[in-house]
Amino acid sequence: MANVVVVGAQWGDEGKGKIVDWLSERADVIARFQGGHNAGHTLVIDGEVFKLSLLPSGIVRGGKLSVIGNGVVLDPWHLQKEIAGLRGQGVTITPETLMIAENTPLILPIHGELDRAREEQTSVAKIGTTGRGIGPAYEDKVGRRSVRVADLADDATLELRVDRALVHHDALRRGLGLEPVDRERLLADLRAIAPSVLEYAAPVWKVLNEKRRAGKRILFEGAQGALLDIDFGTYPFVTSSNVIAGQAATGTGIGPGSIDFVLGIVKAYTTRVGEGPFPAELNDADGQRLGERGHEFGTVTGRKRRCGWFDAVLVRQTCATSGVNGISFTKLDVLDGFETLKICVAYELDGKRLDYLPTAADQQARCTPIYEEMPGWSESTEGARSWADLPAEAIKYVRRVEELIECPVALLSTSPEREDTILVTDPFAD
Ligand code: IMP
Repeated sequence: MANVVVVGAQWGDEGKGKIVDWLSERADVIARFQGGHNAGHTLVIDGEVFKLSLLPSGIVRGGKLSVIGNGVVLDPWHLQKEIAGLRGQGVTITPETLMIAENTPLILPIHGELDRAREEQTSVAKIGTTGRGIGPAYEDKVGRRSVRVADLADDATLELRVDRALVHHDALRRGLGLEPVDRERLLADLRAIAPSVLEYAAPVWKVLNEKRRAGKRILFEGAQGALLDIDFGTYPFVTSSNVIAGQAATGTGIGPGSIDFVLGIVKAYTTRVGEGPFPAELNDADGQRLGERGHEFGTVTGRKRRCGWFDAVLVRQTCATSGVNGISFTKLDVLDGFETLKICVAYELDGKRLDYLPTAADQQARCTPIYEEMPGWSESTEGARSWADLPAEAIKYVRRVEELIECPVALLSTSPEREDTILVTDPFAD
């Protein structure tokens, strides 16, 4: 049986929600392996809209096990709110349908405060984060001063963990002009929230390995996109976790050999939220049009997304770093009606042609896109369910993208509706 990893292959917001939902119907287990409630997945099921930030998309489907792996950073108060909201929409959530890894680090209120305080400083530090404490929580994980899910079960351990974190945080807060942390209040808040997290705590690595041996299908649901990866993204304008497919193994506790198919989600053009380099960005009427037609506003923060032409250089790179076996190409219909389309096929740097994005920030800033032009199409591709429904120019565009990124299209998504999908290769096929 196949286990599938889904990753965003650009800067996030590629339309993962729909594809993950489509695949999760066929999976037995759906696992998140990185990020936190900085993600925003919108699912439309039978006309009802579900908005998820932290919980795996499988949660809205009955009979599935949803898992939050140790690679995630978990805000327990947000968890409680998201669960309550979904229950209000009639979703059943029990310890049988949701498991949270015991070794998952928590996001505390002090992480959000620190994240926002840094972003508000008018200094070089601004990243354009979601302000949800993601970065500071990962810093504490690597700094070995996190409070983890299992620590909530024992009061003496909890106090030790909090004290360890506060030595660091109070020093930092002094520097930022923030009040010291109210230790007693933090402990009281953690004691109060503990039961609603511990209810779902489980040795996720063990459960997943048992499921795998029993032949169950596991879907690993990535958040954000590979260009926001802490190692391979446009550092420092990235998120604080590994986003690429390898993280599915370390972020849940299964071996890398258990991953059978990596599906990269790729939008037919490029967007990003927040600061950072974006070589093919358009600050003109075409960019405006892509944003309007594509409804490019952040799900979590409501921020307007920056838009640009499809950048094949970046996607070829992310397909390589994630070992993508096939892509799901989304939002092709947003390109309907453009007379001419451009694809970035290489960069020019200091008079030389480059087929990848260099790592050095000054070089990234000097890269200018080299475009290839293709004729657009005037017909609508929205809702197409077979290749025969697509205009010839649209098919040529997709085929050219496949060539340039050196990776085949497995799925083509032509509207937010789940049925509007052209299946080329089934990622779950044996
Ligand atoms: P953080 O993850 O809140 O630390 O934000 C770091 C960067 O990642 C910022 O540029 C955010 O806009 C971006 N980011 C975080 N989560 C998402 C997402 O789900 N989609 C798109 N961008 C994201």
